[in-house]
Amino acid sequence: MKQRNELQTELAGSEFGIKGECVISLMLTKLDIINTVLFMKLHRNVIQMKTGRLKSYESVCKKLEKKGLELSFPVALEKINDLIGVRAICAYVDDIYQVAEMIEKQKDIRIIKVKDYIRNPKKSGYQSLHLILEAAIAFQDGIQWIKIELQLRTAAMDYWANLDHQLRYKRGAKEAESIDGELRQCAEVIADLDQKMLKIRKKIDKI
Ligand code: GTP
Ligand code: MG
Repeated sequence: MKQRNELQTELAGSEFGIKGECVISLMLTKLDIINTVLFMKLHRNVIQMKTGRLKSYESVCKKLEKKGLELSFPVALEKINDLIGVRAICAYVDDIYQVAEMIEKQKDIRIIKVKDYIRNPKKSGYQSLHLILEAAIAFQDGIQWIKIELQLRTAAMDYWANLDHQLRYKRGAKEAESIDGELRQCAEVIADLDQKMLKIRKKIDKI
């Protein structure tokens, strides 16, 4: 119980939560800068939308339970990559890799892990590029490296992921298998759509 209480207070009002909000602002600004730099080159917005959030206490507990881990702050900090999460919606699939590359090159970013669920979609059909990274942020007491999960996806991938997320909570175990199959098919349609849109853009780029 003591550990649970500590987990709850650490996640929100305490140093971790406050510094987490700071690092979210930092990442959102980085994405703004990348978008501006690419806008000068490409004359279009590569990043269409971005959001950041700290994972809620309830979701952290759910994830720790699912993974069979102890409900404590040190365990959450070590084992959950998306305690701090930032998501950017990009216009085209190739934009995602361009943004990722620019993030990776920055001196105040260390890449811990890349999960490419676009080239290798999950069994569910889920697609996105995840960068698990650490960002350096200067506080009065020195520089601190803070772990973040950056999810990069297209608007179509985002649409699928949001509806999948909603439906996953609602469906019962009995229908799960056939619904899983249908959702996977929808994910394939969406991947195909993204490829078609990219092809059209490339055709227009040549004009
Ligand atoms: P969990 O899957 O959340 O236990 O985390 P993990 O440590 O296994 O990492 P993973 O890369 O599988 O998932 C990280 C995040 O990607 C999740 O928190 C979701 O935001 C997203 N994600 C992964 N798989 C799916 C999926 O099948 N559907 C949806 N909607 N989102 C997914
Ligand atoms: Mg998972």
